[in-house]
Amino acid sequence: MERRLAAKLAATAVAAAFAGGAAAQDKAVKVGFMLPYTGTFAALGNAIENGFRLHLQEQGGKLGGRAIEFVRVDDESDPSKATDNVNKLIRRDQVDVLVGTVHSGVAMAMAKVAKESGTLLVVPNAGADAVTGPMCAPNIFRTSFTNWQPGYAMGEVMAKRGHKTAVTITWKYAAGDESVKGFKESFAKVGGKVLKDLTLPFPNVEFQPLLTEIAALKPDAVYTFFAGGGAVKFVKDYAAAGLGKTIPLYGAGFLTDGTLEAQGDAANGLLTTLHYADGLTNPKDKAFRLAYAKTYKLQPDVYAVQGYDAAQLLAIGLGAVKGDLGKRDAMYAAMAKARIDSPRGAFTLSPSHNPVQDIYLRKVEGKANQVQSVAVKALADPGRGCRM
Ligand code: PHB
Repeated sequence: MERRLAAKLAATAVAAAFAGGAAAQDKAVKVGFMLPYTGTFAALGNAIENGFRLHLQEQGGKLGGRAIEFVRVDDESDPSKATDNVNKLIRRDQVDVLVGTVHSGVAMAMAKVAKESGTLLVVPNAGADAVTGPMCAPNIFRTSFTNWQPGYAMGEVMAKRGHKTAVTITWKYAAGDESVKGFKESFAKVGGKVLKDLTLPFPNVEFQPLLTEIAALKPDAVYTFFAGGGAVKFVKDYAAAGLGKTIPLYGAGFLTDGTLEAQGDAANGLLTTLHYADGLTNPKDKAFRLAYAKTYKLQPDVYAVQGYDAAQLLAIGLGAVKGDLGKRDAMYAAMAKARIDSPRGAFTLSPSHNPVQDIYLRKVEGKANQVQSVAVKALADPGRGCRM
């Protein structure tokens, strides 16, 4: 009698364990989205989330067989709040995965916490070189770019176009500094000279005194990094100051991505470099654009692509382990060797987990960043300082 009871109890325990196991796989994967939903980068954060949700919707609401639960935090592009925000997601909300963010300073705080806690982090925009440089880790991935990449491509383009001198202008923070550094590296290789680096604090938009300085310095051309709301105002102010007619303006493509409606004629003719463009002819982009426009009644931009690809990368990782988040090593190995069929064109990841990708030269024609050529084919960030 006692033996039979013990056997029954044991059987019940086994059944419960099985049910528990199944329940773990049935439970949604909790993804913490730390993005700017307010401020100068608000539109960027929303586009990233839209892109992510579009891929999820195409997969029937599951990635690698697991449903996804969204936990959202507005990081306000404020580095001083970043560590608290990311710790809340990890400790209070107990997220399985972090997706974020746009601003390089905030992303570096996220990467630090991710590295310490071992939480998987997928960066869908911020270009901070350090994230896939000295801060690189097996659990940190990026589906966007390093700040170095578009800048480096533009230095070559401007030199080829015959410009010998330039002035740079940007916000004084990691993204601006590193974008300018990438530009100078290739511009200097062919003897280009930078007369002056002009900066203002993020996210200020009082450009007037700096535009006056550009007019006085008379460089052959100007290289710039601005994005979001700040980029809209900068392009308009540059045109209104009459500088566009005498000193051509170039930039990392964020200057004119997702901003053309607001910039109007002021942006016409601008040349920029970026890993996405209008007028690409790959089938993935065609399908993506149709689906995005249908779902959101909006045209996608580079941020939407990066969010979409963050979901694709996560799907590849989860798919490789059949949704079992316990198998971290196998999951990260699959992500590291993934080939992402991106609307930008297919890409793979460098050893430090940053996209190896074509950088396009684009020209603003009406409301489009029309592709002109591939400025640099399969450009890999050098990943300086990464040891993994
Ligand atoms: C960044 O801070 O890394 C950043 C922000 C906005 C962009 C690109 C890069 O469009």
